[in-house]
Amino acid sequence: MKDTFYITTPIYYVNDVPHIGHAYTTVACDVIARYRRLRGEKVFFLTGTDEHGQTNLRAAQQRGLKPQEWVDQIVPQWKEVWERLEISYDDFIRTTEERHGRSVQDFVQRLYDAGDVYLGTYEGLYCISCEEFKTGSEILDGQLCAIHKIPLERVQEQNYFFRLSAYQDRLLKLYEEHPEFVRPETRMNEVVAFVKGGLQDFSMSRTSFDWGVPIPWDPKHVVYVWVDALFNYITATGFGVDEQRFRSIWPADVHMMSKDILRFHAVFWPAMLMSAGLPVPRSVFVHGYLLVGGEKMSKTRLTGIHPFQLTGHFGVDAYRYYFLREVPFGQDGSFSWESMAARYNAELANGLGNLASRILAMAGSYFGGVVPEPSSREGSGRLREAATALVGRFPAHMEAFQLSDAVGALDGFVREANRYLVEVAPWNLAKDEGRRQDLADSLYASLEALRLIAVFASPVMPGASARLWAQLGIAEQLSAQYLPRAAQWGLLEPGTRTSKGEALFPRLDD
Ligand code: MSP
Repeated sequence: MKDTFYITTPIYYVNDVPHIGHAYTTVACDVIARYRRLRGEKVFFLTGTDEHGQTNLRAAQQRGLKPQEWVDQIVPQWKEVWERLEISYDDFIRTTEERHGRSVQDFVQRLYDAGDVYLGTYEGLYCISCEEFKTGSEILDGQLCAIHKIPLERVQEQNYFFRLSAYQDRLLKLYEEHPEFVRPETRMNEVVAFVKGGLQDFSMSRTSFDWGVPIPWDPKHVVYVWVDALFNYITATGFGVDEQRFRSIWPADVHMMSKDILRFHAVFWPAMLMSAGLPVPRSVFVHGYLLVGGEKMSKTRLTGIHPFQLTGHFGVDAYRYYFLREVPFGQDGSFSWESMAARYNAELANGLGNLASRILAMAGSYFGGVVPEPSSREGSGRLREAATALVGRFPAHMEAFQLSDAVGALDGFVREANRYLVEVAPWNLAKDEGRRQDLADSLYASLEALRLIAVFASPVMPGASARLWAQLGIAEQLSAQYLPRAAQWGLLEPGTRTSKGEALFPRLDD
């Protein structure tokens, strides 16, 4: 039986290196995966690379390489970025792996055996970057792709077709019974309108090139790259190899992506799964585009920014924090150096970082770095209330995929804690021997606030949280903290030896 929270990123084309758009999806999934682990859930977080098809083939040809040589060269560059961004994936799938080819063949055979595949001829305009035929408003004047603004290519081929048209009613029933299948709701409305408009069968094989998985009953054809790609989500669960594992993971809880590939996930994918007699995913979540100059940032359009261009300046934690905090999750957003620098200084250097260094410095000078004994572990007052708000809001936002609000709740708590310090002014209490207990109470509460910040920030900024945790000197590992218990007020043990350590977020030079 299913006992694992399963989250996926799209598997990315490897026609080039990653840009911050790909990293946006991947970081968001990582934050969700880490949050679920923090709740003590079993998690399977999958990412990987989509290596077949024409877009990758052409990238190899342009470099005078065989496609396999090219993908083998470029995939490590993707993995390097994910490693640097501290992406905690549980598996990385490459569609050129043997395990995947085998399961794609099983899968298309099932569709064939179900009577949903037939031979036909197709002619249309194809976008190689989307790997998709285009019609109507998807075609701009001059026969350009509306997403990539590159010329479409006229393709005519004898292909195998998947009988998508037969699934219209079953898909509409799925959307009606599971309104959460596509989120946010506006995206669901688009999908419903598209399906109600009538579905056409799609070609699911190619014969003009051989860079793909051969169709098992007719190996002159290779499987269309999108059919091949979607199936990665099931290959990685052990489908056809380890039935028990498959059942414990599938169906996916959420496939994350932006709207460019929604139709494949919300229409083609469930229809093919229904045909194969397999359960459909629980939900597809569509976040917005990162824009440059008002357009979707992309390598094809030469507007891609490599994540390392930003991590070099701001560090990995700030990188992860910034995009989630800046862009309401689900809406489009723009990146700018100015806004990133402004948030860094306001919320991380002057906010969280300064809060931690002030509190730890005071613990050092007033109590020799040792957590003082408070008059009560219950806590009271404004900071305690703010903590209760954080403990309620952060999980609620996370579970609703309101990532910017979750990160905002954390920032709100940091601000409250800074206000609390100004209000109680421990530096004044310290001047009065008679108020030693008040000083101890205020520092205990402040240190306890830092402990909560480290716990709640850990899915978002794993590195900075671990450093803060180490400065707090808590014996138990941060990775051994689980919600809801770790969110209880008063767990910090008096007597714990803290240390000031290096600044979590050094101020930026102009
Ligand atoms: N290979 C297919 C996906 C197959 S999944 C079974 C593909 N690859 S892709 O490399 O083009 O990645 C598209 C995805 O990358 C988007 O859906 C989104 O998750 C992410 N993004 C790419 N550019 C982006 C922005 N400019 N902004 C936000 N996300 C972006 O499609």
